[in-house]
Amino acid sequence: MIRRYSFGHPFQTDAVVKDLPPIHGPVPYFTVENDDCTLACPLSSDTIVYGLGETVRGINKRGWHYCSNCSDEPQHTEGKQSLYASDNFLLLAGKGQMFGVFLDYPGKVDYDIGYTNMNHMAVTVGNADYDLYIIEGKSAEEIVHQFRGLIGRSYIAPKWAFGYGQSRWSYYSEDEVREVVQKHRENHVPLDMVYLDIDYMDHYKDFTLNDETFPDFAEFVQEMRRQNIHLVPIIDAGVKQERGYDVCDEGLENGYFCKKEDGTPFVGAVWPGKAYFPDFLNPEVRAWFGGKYRFLLDKGIDGFWNDMNEPALFYSEDGLKAAFAEMKKLEGKNLDMDKVNYFRELVTGLSNNPKDYESFYHNCGGKRVRHDKIHNLYGYNMTRSAGEAFEKYCPNKRVLMFSRSSMVGMHRYGGVWTGDNCSWWSHLLLEIQMMPSLNMCGFLYSGADIGGFGDNATADLLLRWTAFGVFTPLMRNHSALGTRCQEVYRFPEVLPVFRNLIGIRYALLPYLYSEYMKATLQDTMYFKPLAFVYPQDEDAARVQDQLMLGDELMVTPVYTQNAVGRTVYLPEPMKLVRMHSAQEIQTEQMEKGYHYIPIALDEIVFFLRSDRMIPLAKGGESVPEVDFGDLTLLVNVQHCAAYQYYSDDGCSKDYDNAKNRTCITMKADGTVSAEGQLPVKLDVKR
Ligand code: GLC
Repeated sequence: MIRRYSFGHPFQTDAVVKDLPPIHGPVPYFTVENDDCTLACPLSSDTIVYGLGETVRGINKRGWHYCSNCSDEPQHTEGKQSLYASDNFLLLAGKGQMFGVFLDYPGKVDYDIGYTNMNHMAVTVGNADYDLYIIEGKSAEEIVHQFRGLIGRSYIAPKWAFGYGQSRWSYYSEDEVREVVQKHRENHVPLDMVYLDIDYMDHYKDFTLNDETFPDFAEFVQEMRRQNIHLVPIIDAGVKQERGYDVCDEGLENGYFCKKEDGTPFVGAVWPGKAYFPDFLNPEVRAWFGGKYRFLLDKGIDGFWNDMNEPALFYSEDGLKAAFAEMKKLEGKNLDMDKVNYFRELVTGLSNNPKDYESFYHNCGGKRVRHDKIHNLYGYNMTRSAGEAFEKYCPNKRVLMFSRSSMVGMHRYGGVWTGDNCSWWSHLLLEIQMMPSLNMCGFLYSGADIGGFGDNATADLLLRWTAFGVFTPLMRNHSALGTRCQEVYRFPEVLPVFRNLIGIRYALLPYLYSEYMKATLQDTMYFKPLAFVYPQDEDAARVQDQLMLGDELMVTPVYTQNAVGRTVYLPEPMKLVRMHSAQEIQTEQMEKGYHYIPIALDEIVFFLRSDRMIPLAKGGESVPEVDFGDLTLLVNVQHCAAYQYYSDDGCSKDYDNAKNRTCITMKADGTVSAEGQLPVKLDVKR
């Protein structure tokens, strides 16, 4: 059951798709304090607090304070309170507490989850204008399911976007991209996507091309498509300030950019230097900016990533002026510690300065709203602008879209990648822990930069990260300018291992895609904490580094340097599956309990639950080469098992058609049958 409690005058975020009548009475579970701005509740000793989507620390959010405030934060260290996303969903699960909370509020939200007092939680908003949804259910899974129904169906990516993608800031020219593709193809490393970072543009201007380095873009897109490669360009939120550039001119002429108090357009700087920021909260602006994606759609592009949409601000025009004036005052002075710190702060404080976010406004249906009050809606509505355009211009075609900044609501228009992580082992663990939290909040098409974005990757880190990336819907290797190149062929000594690991992804695709599609269509989770599946098992409840994937698998990634294996907890007897390649599979029956499992760098290990099976493909070097109808069943069947298999054409939106489904069953005597309209050829790996 879901109840909506309304306070003040909530801003319409469109995060929720169900219109529930508001209740103005007392809120269950919480005491409402601080002029309705704080919701407080005790935490029972065994309660686990799940949720908050993309945040630092573990799956259990207890023991830290977080802040929903979409931030261009490149250092995802434990001490941080905010990253790029703001997902205001929490789920409290324990013996004496079981409920979900969604706070529909577009400004800053502070969460003190056992930080000030270990046994106490307080959620605080800036203004008492919000909708609070209390969700009750018998289990964590049921609560998440209801919440997902409340916020509407998650974005669905095309099937090709489940292939492996290679990215780097930056591939500067057609020739560089050709080389990346050629190296993958000649080494038989599967590949479906190459990402284009900001340098494909003319001076970092959205919806332009660098004509020197990408001279015939439409033809180049086709050349890539002939090799089963999709090019995926980046789009940034800031629009370069340059007269004669159509996006800038049209935005200025129509008043489409965010404005300062005096009514002039706000100017901040990003990659191109001074830039304007489209007022994505205004539907007219969304339609206009969304229409701009056609520039690339018309050239054959069918996927994008939206970036810098917190929005990131290197500095504001006004902030920079003020900083220079202050610096002048310090010139020629003897700077003591305080002054030198002040001097430093003048420069470092220029970026993403809270004062700047308070200095510009949106036009919300004729009403002026200061940006910081609705800050977390910005990236969401940039991606919505694209999503609404795709719906209009290619209504029956799926377009790949994922964003850096996000908030619940955006999950209907795109997925997310988790931004600028580093080539650190701790960030591999962070990704593992973020995935189920993101899934709860509706972000199913998600993944991190494999190998890490900042800092230098090593072969072993990249191998372990790839081994986990095999399971994430978005599987993309991406790295920053100036860091060690981390395309898999840069590590020749282990290139055959990468070929095999990525090849395993392609063999697993029928299962992974089927689970992803079912999770989106049925409002369920793709990655789940173990406790969701084994609620009575107290050991399972505490596991923070293993995940259930769909209803069949448990993944147990290795995320520590120089490890040759790891301890794994099995909440039930399971079959250990060890894959060295798409073809080389070994299995071993294991008992419930703790086990130390050796896991080498050249293999992928996962566990198959009792009386379950998963469909595998024979493999392929790109998604179109994978035959989703010619399946090998990997089984762990003692009595009988049934698997609901979903597959479709991968590009249209005819999701709910019965011809996309078949139910595969296996009886105790080993006989296998399929019932449904989706034709499949089956054999069994025994
Ligand atoms: C941001 C993005 C990163 C990208 C870079 C250059 O830092 O998060 O992925 O490579 O900008 O566009």
